[in-house]
Amino acid sequence: MAFTHETIERKLPLLMILMALAVSFGGLVEIVPLLFDKDVTQPVEGLKPLPALQLEGRDIYLREGCYLCHSQMIRSLRAETERYGHYSVPGESVYDHPFLWGSERTGPDLARVGGKYSDAWHQAHLHNPRDVVPESIMPAYPWLESNTLSGVDTAAKMRALRAVGVPYTDEDIRTAQEDVKGHSEQEAVIAYLQQLGTHLPNAR
Ligand code: HEC
Repeated sequence: MAFTHETIERKLPLLMILMALAVSFGGLVEIVPLLFDKDVTQPVEGLKPLPALQLEGRDIYLREGCYLCHSQMIRSLRAETERYGHYSVPGESVYDHPFLWGSERTGPDLARVGGKYSDAWHQAHLHNPRDVVPESIMPAYPWLESNTLSGVDTAAKMRALRAVGVPYTDEDIRTAQEDVKGHSEQEAVIAYLQQLGTHLPNAR
């Protein structure tokens, strides 16, 4: 019997194996070149690992689930770049583990929110969003003001990130705890928010 298309379609296991092969090959063709593409593996110029307080702020952002309502990924569409600024480029998030690009936008994208508002605005907004944006449906996070950070595990977090390629120096790790200790969680979150998207030159 000739090995025709019909033979393949009639033999389900064979069809499944060949389909898996075709899909895997297609996937590899898309993924493998990216591993060697400097645009997606190299940090943008001037990108630095998050300082201790901002790193803690990022962890609080994760803990509070901010990423469930906020993406950090501006797409290269005109409607997005007009609203948020320069589209996100991969080199901006090479030190992010895990990345926080997100997919759900109940609230606005935050990829370039750094510097958009004052610290005082963020304090009021995190305390109760409706005090500054009356129609807001964002939850209030008043406990961030009273929770104080001890910084006991900040150095360990930095060491873990260094193990996956984030270039923290010994000095960063040595001073991590004292950089964080005594600050409120709110200060940490705001420090984190205020640097978002500020590393790409001329991004706005
Ligand atoms: C239930 C969804 C939801 C969650 C969870 C949420 N937000 Fe929001 N956020 C919104 C909405 C909606 C807005 C737009 C209205 C406003 O400004 O309050 C917003 C606005 C913002 C803005 C202003 C953005 C801009 O460009 O004007 C910031 C900053 C922000 N959120 C930070 C946070 C942080 C930090 C957290 C976690 C502690 C968080 N959000 C959690 C829904 C959410």
